[in-house]
Formats: sequence, structure tokens, C-alpha cells
Amino acid sequence: MDRFLITGGKKLRGTVHISGSKNAALPILVATLLTDDKCTLHRVPNLRDVRTTLKILEYLGKKVTYQNNTVTVEANGPLKKDLPYELVKQMRASFWVAGPLLARFHEADIPLPGGCAIGVRPVDIHLKGFEQLGATCQVESGNVLISARELKPAQIVLRFPSVGATQNLLMCACLIPGETILENTAKEPEVDDVILFLNKMGAQIKTDEKGRLIIHGVQKMHGAEHTVVADRIETGSFILAAAATRGDVTVADCVPEHNAILLSDLREAGFTLDVTDTAVRVHAYEGEINPVRIRTAPYPGFATDLQAPWMTLMTLCNGTAEIDEDIFENRFMHAPELVRMGARIYTEKSVARVTGVKNLSAAHVQASDLRGGFALVMAGLCAEGETEVERVYHIDRGYENLEQKLTALGAQIRRYNPDKDEF
Ligand code: EPZ
Repeated sequence: MDRFLITGGKKLRGTVHISGSKNAALPILVATLLTDDKCTLHRVPNLRDVRTTLKILEYLGKKVTYQNNTVTVEANGPLKKDLPYELVKQMRASFWVAGPLLARFHEADIPLPGGCAIGVRPVDIHLKGFEQLGATCQVESGNVLISARELKPAQIVLRFPSVGATQNLLMCACLIPGETILENTAKEPEVDDVILFLNKMGAQIKTDEKGRLIIHGVQKMHGAEHTVVADRIETGSFILAAAATRGDVTVADCVPEHNAILLSDLREAGFTLDVTDTAVRVHAYEGEINPVRIRTAPYPGFATDLQAPWMTLMTLCNGTAEIDEDIFENRFMHAPELVRMGARIYTEKSVARVTGVKNLSAAHVQASDLRGGFALVMAGLCAEGETEVERVYHIDRGYENLEQKLTALGAQIRRYNPDKDEF
């Protein structure tokens, strides 16, 4: 399995161009199941999770092409209504095919997505919503058979603004005649991008003055063309890597307002940032990094996906910073690996207390999940000496051309596979 070898101590300098958003591309690709017409999607990042989703679309019966970040999806005969465990276990987001399949065929037979390293990640909100839309959900030997004689509009209040449940229920409601109202939905920018795409396909979705999603079901949806929104988590990740290495980096082709709270927290930590409509410049800063407390929360709160990279920055702060991870129950797996690199971190349940140190030291570490993996790469960029990060496949799920982008910013990082490459 691939590893990263990083020789740290280099300040990142230059400009990095942000890719399309993984967490918008995945649901948008799934939304193409709602039509037999051809859909064309641009700025689809070349990631493991995207390739898995394309495999899922092909398995279900779609014809897919993928060239230079452009994907086309079109019908190629009738669609299947089930997914094999093999595919779902690779990526939880596969569960989102339930919404479109239920909407079109009133049936979906999908393996329940297991948990993952960061938490149990149940899908109760999805299933409860489907039941309120008139479906029955029968769990049997790890699968859930969702079926409905007739789907009916409903007024649904999500008990938690789940991103996936919002998107799954949205896609299902598009084809249900009548008015469905979704309340307490996720407001992440990726959800907005999915809504934009669904409306381009002929859906009728709007947001009312209370922030509720109002969906008027339509008979049929048609093909559409769409360019995926910039990845705000990749944006935040590079901003934090620039800050931690005391570099001077312009993060371009992004949507700075999607990272508003991160930018505000970074300024409070002592950094100077120039922000335009499409770019953020992190100025080199040699001063003390102030400890800043964060709590992860649904958008526009501090993104849980940036908690791990933020922790790496706080390992170098001047004092003790508190981090409250209030979204996932087990999202500190990067902490013990950072401690092995000399960080001082104390975690208890959903709270981590990080007491800054002067320097991190290189070590051999392993990634347990996507964002924790990036946090370890970031630590390797800051630490004196050569850091080896194992299980890079986690990181490949969500960062397109990571080592190329970092190398272009002056980092010394290379990928190698001890089973294949000469050391
Ligand atoms: C999406 O996951 C993202 N993934 C995650 O990004 C992100 O961390 C998460 O939203 C929160 O922002 C994709 O978009 C592909 P949730 P999702 O449903 O939809 C609980 C990354 O690194 N919950 O908003 O699965 C759940 O257990 C990934 O790119 C229920 O209890 O997240 C969690 O504690 C990691 N019941 C919380 O809600 C449900 O039915 C947030 O989950 C659904 C969720």
C-alpha cells in the first residue's frame, strides 16, 4: 500500500488551484439516476470516491465516461434497484442511491452502510424520512429493502441537519407529486450545489423565508450540464497547511465565503489573510500562534472535516487550545499519531486540549481516515526530518493530486509503495 515520505521544515510558497468538491460531486453523480437523459458534469475531481461512485452508476446500468475532470452519464438500458455490499462498504455515500431509486421505481434494496473509523454513522434520519414519504423500510441481513406502493408528499423535520439525509430525501421528493417540506436541513454549500443541479434537471426546489426546503414534485426530470462547486474542505486544508508551515500561499479558484469561520479563527490566531471573491492569500507569519478554541458544528459553523488539520496547527500554538468535536463521536484518531510527533494533546470524549510545542518531530505514522490523514501530512510538512505516512489510500479518497500540488508549493513529498518500489 502507498505511503508518503515527507521531508519537513519547508515553508509552502506559491499558488494552489482548488479542485471541484468531492462532497458535492458524489451526490450530484447519484442524482443523475433521476433521469434517463444524458448529464454532463465538469470539474469532477479525480478521487477514489468519485471512481467508486462511477462504478456504482455503471453497476446500476448507466453508461459513464470520465475524461479531464468531465463526466458524462447516460442511460444504457433499465436500471437495477439493488447495490452489492462490496460497493457500499467502500463508501458510505453509496447509500444515497436509495432516494433516486425509490423515487423512480418505488423500490431500493441497499446494504446498510457500516460505520467507519470516525463513528457509527447511522442512517435513521434517512429511513424515517422515507417512511414519512410513504415507504416501508425492512432491514434484513445487513440490507434495507425500501419500498412503497405509492409515495406521498410530507412535511418532514430532520432531528439533526444531516447532510446525507437532506440530499437523499431531496432527491426522492423531486418526483413525488405535491408539496414536500423539509425542515432543519443541512445548509452546507455542497447541498446548495446539489439543489442547483436538481433544478437544472427540472426539479422545483426552493427555500422559504424560514430556511425550509419546499419541493414541488415533477413528472419527469431531464438531463443537465453542471460545473461542480469548489471544494471548501480542500480549500481549508491548504490554507491551514500554509499557515502551519509559516508559508506565503495563495489558494485560488475557491469560494472564500464558504470558509468564513475558518478565516476568522485564523485571524484570531494571528495570521494575516487577503481575501478576494475567488482566492485567499495566507501571508507568512513568524509570530506566536494564539490558541483559539473551536467547536465543530453544521454549516456555517466550524467544519468537522477541518477539525483534524486545525488540530495540527494548534499543536504549534502559544498556550493551550480546546477543540470540541460535536459532530462525530470518534474523530480524534489523528491525535495519538500527532503525539508521536511530539505534540501535547489530551483528549476526553468529544474534547481535545492541545498545548503548543516549539516544534514537531518527524516520525513514522499512519492515517486512519481521510481528514486525519491530511492532518498527519501537514504535521510532516512542519516537522524537522523525514516523516512517513502510511495508509495513503485514506487520503486519496478526498485530495486530488495532493503530492503534486504540495510539491508545486515547495514541499518535499513523494509517494512510494514498499511492496513494489525500490526504497
Ligand atoms: C457528509 O457525511 C460528508 N460526506 C462528511 O465528509 C462530513 O463530515 C459530514 O457530511 C458532516 O459535514 C459526504 O458528503 C460524502 P451527516 P454524512 O449525515 O452525510 C449523524 C469527508 O471527510 N447522523 O451530516 O454522512 C452522524 O452519525 C466526509 O469528506 C445520524 O445520527 O454526515 C453524524 O454524527 C467525512 N443519523 C452526524 O449526524 C443519520 O441518519 C452528521 O452526519 C444521519 C447522520
